[in-house]
Amino acid sequence: MKFYPLAKSLLAAALALSYLNTQAASQAPVAARNGMVVTAQRLATQAGIDILKAGGNAVDAAVAVGYTLAVVYPAAGNLGGGGFMTIQLADGRKTFLDFREKAPLAASASMYLDRDGNVVPGLSTYGHLAVGVPGTVSGMEFARGKYGTMRRTPLLAAAIKYAQEGFELEQGDIDMLKTATNAFKKDPATAVIFLNKGEPFKVGQKLVQRDLANTLRRIRNMGADGFYKGPVGAAIVASSWAGGGILMQADLDRYQTRELEPVECTYRDYGIVSAPPPSSGGVAICEMLNILEGYPMKELGFHSAQAVQYQIEAMRHAFVDRNSYLGDPEFVDSPLDLLLDKDYAAQIRTVIPPAGTSGDIGPGIAPHAATTPHEGSNTTHYSIVDKWGNAVSVTYTLNDWFGAKVVAAKTGVLLNNEMDDFTIKVGVPNSFGLVQGEANKIERGKRPLSSMSPTIVTKNGKPVMVLGTPGGSRIITTVLLTILNVIDYGMDVQEAVDAPRFHQQWQPEETNVENYALSPDTRIILESWGQKFGDPPPANQVAAILVGAPRLDGEPVGDNRYYGAIDPRRNSGLALGY
Ligand code: DON
Repeated sequence: MKFYPLAKSLLAAALALSYLNTQAASQAPVAARNGMVVTAQRLATQAGIDILKAGGNAVDAAVAVGYTLAVVYPAAGNLGGGGFMTIQLADGRKTFLDFREKAPLAASASMYLDRDGNVVPGLSTYGHLAVGVPGTVSGMEFARGKYGTMRRTPLLAAAIKYAQEGFELEQGDIDMLKTATNAFKKDPATAVIFLNKGEPFKVGQKLVQRDLANTLRRIRNMGADGFYKGPVGAAIVASSWAGGGILMQADLDRYQTRELEPVECTYRDYGIVSAPPPSSGGVAICEMLNILEGYPMKELGFHSAQAVQYQIEAMRHAFVDRNSYLGDPEFVDSPLDLLLDKDYAAQIRTVIPPAGTSGDIGPGIAPHAATTPHEGSNTTHYSIVDKWGNAVSVTYTLNDWFGAKVVAAKTGVLLNNEMDDFTIKVGVPNSFGLVQGEANKIERGKRPLSSMSPTIVTKNGKPVMVLGTPGGSRIITTVLLTILNVIDYGMDVQEAVDAPRFHQQWQPEETNVENYALSPDTRIILESWGQKFGDPPPANQVAAILVGAPRLDGEPVGDNRYYGAIDPRRNSGLALGY
């Protein structure tokens, strides 16, 4: 407590400085006149730009990028997984495509527990029993058919070429593959693709995926049926049964993309368009923004003790609600009106102490245990805006890096381990340390609760920012902080992406802090208020675009209209415009 007045005067000084110069130590964003594509892999970005240049719209480019990443970024890009696409069209229409995986028809709430009701380690994360019914191909085809303008042949051309002819591996690609060498060795169908005669690939060698090329050709020729039916569908089912899984042809036949209304809210002068359930992202981001809107965040200053205090507590409250209330809307009636209500946020502010923690909280406004998150960083996000102003924000995933680490034999399709996003057992943390409740229990045909948050920020109804990231539960807080960086702190898009972050998810009690996010004295102040801090979280990889100028309400550079930024934390990816 005794640091509080000191904090105030430090704050005032920092504030004065922060207005003198908002330029941080970041490179200038990538600027372009006609359109921008930002993805986690250089060849996929180029594939998207090629489609825009050929006259395709942002949805066409998003489909081409989705298929290309499945080949050139196999750890997270996928055909055998699922994801979300948030779209805001130039004419003002907004929509959300949910191609999240589903629990198979033979799934049950206790399928990953032993006879004594204990979780069997690894069962929901490795191998065929961990696999949810894939949604990506359905999603890409739905998007193309309803909002795209181009035929499948040009949209799949880059993916088929890189799968058939291979692509040269760079150090970042090698690093990605190396993370799963031991897992690849355990599954012959996977080893034959992702190992080079049983050994890890080296820089300069080519990754060739001929079976995947054949699968992509079937999709090109037959659309989603080329994946869900015929030899590819049959091979997925056969591999599942051979590997102890439960997928049936009926699961594949029934899979459908859902078109939903995005979650929307406002933050100061801006609109937020984001992911509704079965994602928790949009709801949690809006709940946190609603809470923070009641504080003078700009005046408090970037990463001042007081600002961080409010941000951590907003995160803590949003995550207790997320973990307790949210699930697939077809199965669970979540109190969205309450969670998105500004009055509810105002009530939460009344229990957030300016100096102290909210303590032992529960869902709603009032309780719990600690766990340690263990996790990888394994999903991928891409952002696209075209020359007409159509904006597309896509996050899709196999869940863990290389998913369940098994391939459907003869298809080249790596399969997800998305079943682990369900509540495997109430009170037991999943691989993101999330301790979830009954709302997210496994039920046949249900989609597991997600944190993926493809988001679009608007002003006066027009997209001004497109963003998202991988990172499991950290997706939600990373998107939040990046939005605050541009709206409250006036950063340009690259500065906003680069700025150090922190993450709080209710359980465990500690907030994970990136290096340099807090100065030593800021940290001492926060600790004196009862805040506890943990290790740096694993790196996210934000892919973001600002429309109009490099910073909100800023001046354009020349006649460029689009400004892209890829997160430098993972040393891969490319922002490219034309
Ligand atoms: O849907 C989700 O929330 C997770 N399956 C996302 C996984 C992820 O972001 C992994 N990357 N860190």
